[in-house]
Amino acid sequence: MHGEARIEIDDHLDDGGALAHMADDVRRGLTASPKRLPSKYFYDERGSELFERITELPEYYLTRIERGLLERHAPAILRHGGARELVELGAGSATKTRLLLDAGRDEGSLRRYVPLEVSREIAEVSAREIAGHYPDLSVHVVVGDFEGHMDEVPGGDRRLVAFLGSTIGNFPREQAVEFLSEAKLLLRDGGHLLLGADLVKDRSSLEAAYNDSRGITAEFNRNILQVVNHHLEADFDPEKFEHIARYNPELQRIESSLRSTEEQTVRLGDIDLEVRFERDELLHTEVSCKYTRDSLSRLLCDAGYELERWFADDSNSFALALAAPVSEVTKPATGRTLRRDVPQRDPRPRYGSGIRP
Ligand code: SAH
Ligand code: AVI
Repeated sequence: MHGEARIEIDDHLDDGGALAHMADDVRRGLTASPKRLPSKYFYDERGSELFERITELPEYYLTRIERGLLERHAPAILRHGGARELVELGAGSATKTRLLLDAGRDEGSLRRYVPLEVSREIAEVSAREIAGHYPDLSVHVVVGDFEGHMDEVPGGDRRLVAFLGSTIGNFPREQAVEFLSEAKLLLRDGGHLLLGADLVKDRSSLEAAYNDSRGITAEFNRNILQVVNHHLEADFDPEKFEHIARYNPELQRIESSLRSTEEQTVRLGDIDLEVRFERDELLHTEVSCKYTRDSLSRLLCDAGYELERWFADDSNSFALALAAPVSEVTKPATGRTLRRDVPQRDPRPRYGSGIRP
């Protein structure tokens, strides 16, 4: 295969199942109190484009700082486990990923790149670009939901599983533990997890990052209504919803929602549902949890990992955590299990309703 790019694309969202799943999620979310929509539905083609624009905003420091960390530490990260393949969860445009791929090429160890991404368009475009740019790398794209299709990722050993961009923050803490615990499936034949996490900081910097002066984040937030309109024949008028993003210091997270600017009724034709909104009622769309080194170490520990390396920028704004699953250690005298074990591939992981605020 030397000198010849190889690309394979498995699409697990192209049967009716994904739409049925979305219909369930949306019905459940819009009939709950308070109302909510899972944030994975932000990312249709337009949502992914808007997210890319967010990453370039002056207020959205996350991507910039994470890129700086990868520029500096990617070689050490690749060397740490001698990764043979890079699996990436929620890869998006995979722009920063190239720093890992460059380091893998320089180390001469990396053979395969496996992105698992829910947004088909961006996954395909970026995978083709990567395959073209790294002719010695084979690229196996899994178009799917990382909450339901983790077991569709092809097997492999000596892996680096990257989960960048602070996407872990889009899970409330308990779901983050459950998710990271499931992700050990990907590491059962060895390897490391690389987690990008945004860190707790002053309220004004955090709120500015989610309330940019150009209104791109507001457009991104409202786009979720267009996604629901498109797929479920709904008639949300995005102009009648205002973007809200506030920091909750107790839970150390940004909470994003859409505020109904008037009393209104929305119809969702495909699922035969009418939803009434009061004036000022909030529709929750996203949480973005912020961590400290301590709280992230605890999260990893609760999910059955040990933190091995920690890379943060000088202002302690963002960090890359490199962790490994803790293998089962039993105490001979008592037979008591001291540490969590790495799960086997079955049963198939199913979380149900996606990322919930
Ligand atoms: N990793 C990139 C993109 C982060 S944005 C970065 O660091 O910049 C979050 C990405 O995760 C988006 O590309 C989105 O489509 C993807 N995503 C969100 N929920 C997902 C899910 N449930 N399954 C798979 N991908 C998901
Ligand atoms: C992808 N995720 C980590 C982003 C975040 O910061 O929570 C999504 C986003 N929402 C608003 N701006 C960016």
